[in-house]
Amino acid sequence: DSKHELTIGLSPMESALVLSVFPEGARIAASHYFDNYNLPCPIKVKIDTPNGTSQYVVLRKTRHGDVEREENALRLLSQYGLPVPKVLAGPCESRLVLSLLEGENLQHFSMRSKGHLEKSKALLITALSTLDKVTGDIERETTPDIIPRHSLMDELAAIKDQSPWNTEGLFRKAVDVLQPILEKITTPLVFTNGDYQPANFLTDGAKITGFVDFEKACFRDPLMGIAKYPVYDLHPLNKAGFVDSYLDTREYDRTDFASRLALMCLITLQREIPVRTTSEGEQTYLTHVTHLLKEAMTTIV
Ligand SMILES: Nc1ncnc2c1ncn2[C@@H]1O[C@H](COP(=O)(O)OP(=O)(O)O)[C@@H](O)[C@H]1O
Ligand SMILES: [Mg+2]
Repeated sequence: DSKHELTIGLSPMESALVLSVFPEGARIAASHYFDNYNLPCPIKVKIDTPNGTSQYVVLRKTRHGDVEREENALRLLSQYGLPVPKVLAGPCESRLVLSLLEGENLQHFSMRSKGHLEKSKALLITALSTLDKVTGDIERETTPDIIPRHSLMDELAAIKDQSPWNTEGLFRKAVDVLQPILEKITTPLVFTNGDYQPANFLTDGAKITGFVDFEKACFRDPLMGIAKYPVYDLHPLNKAGFVDSYLDTREYDRTDFASRLALMCLITLQREIPVRTTSEGEQTYLTHVTHLLKEAMTTIV
């Protein structure tokens, strides 16, 4: 699929970091962005080595998260036997050089056919369970300054009194109803990569061959990452019923999910959507999120 991959030059510092992994005389033959939903994303770098062979590595620059956190998470996960990239060099100026893993990301995989879409639901559920299962190990071996903990109440507290949405009736009322409900939830936090979107998991079609993107790794309520699917209407998995499959497989009921979905809608309003807008795109997004919020609130009460 290299026809979709954009060539991007490396800075001198980046070239030096990549070449530090290889013997003297190696040179950078090519560097491309992955075919990704948004840019800049990690860069796939081809290296010609002095013995005449070529190799690929990945240069990843932290965007929203934390490079030390990612490095720690990758090191621990590889100790527990998960297929994660090896850290070959860095952290250096928010960059890591990582090994290239085999497989296609689940976003691309899910778009190949109806059959692939069904299979990708099952693969994603397995991938998330695999992350859940290392929760105890990672809790024992890290401290919250390395991998932070975000309870539901923390997530509510971070947005409930912020402007501009705190003075809006719809938002205020939802916060007041939701707060006592979230307070009573005792679901243990799980280890997550901080972003359950399908492109963060790689597959060979039969199993998960890679877990990537740990810059926002954290302990979080397991259903918060799932709430992203309806809020962003992640295509095609959302309309294909990924959330229902997940809830059924993990034996959560619709009320369990509704409280998290409502919280995720409030977070999204606060962080991403202006109260009043003239942009058609933003208006559509606002209508979608307020509709989801109202539906979720109806399910809860
Ligand atoms: N080490 C890797 N091996 C193979 N593919 C990778 C690797 N790192 C990233 N990718 C590919 O690049 C895409 C974007 O990488 P990701 O780490 O998720 O960055 P972003 O922060 O842009 O989401 C992934 O969906 C995957 O297809
Ligand atoms: Mg990603």
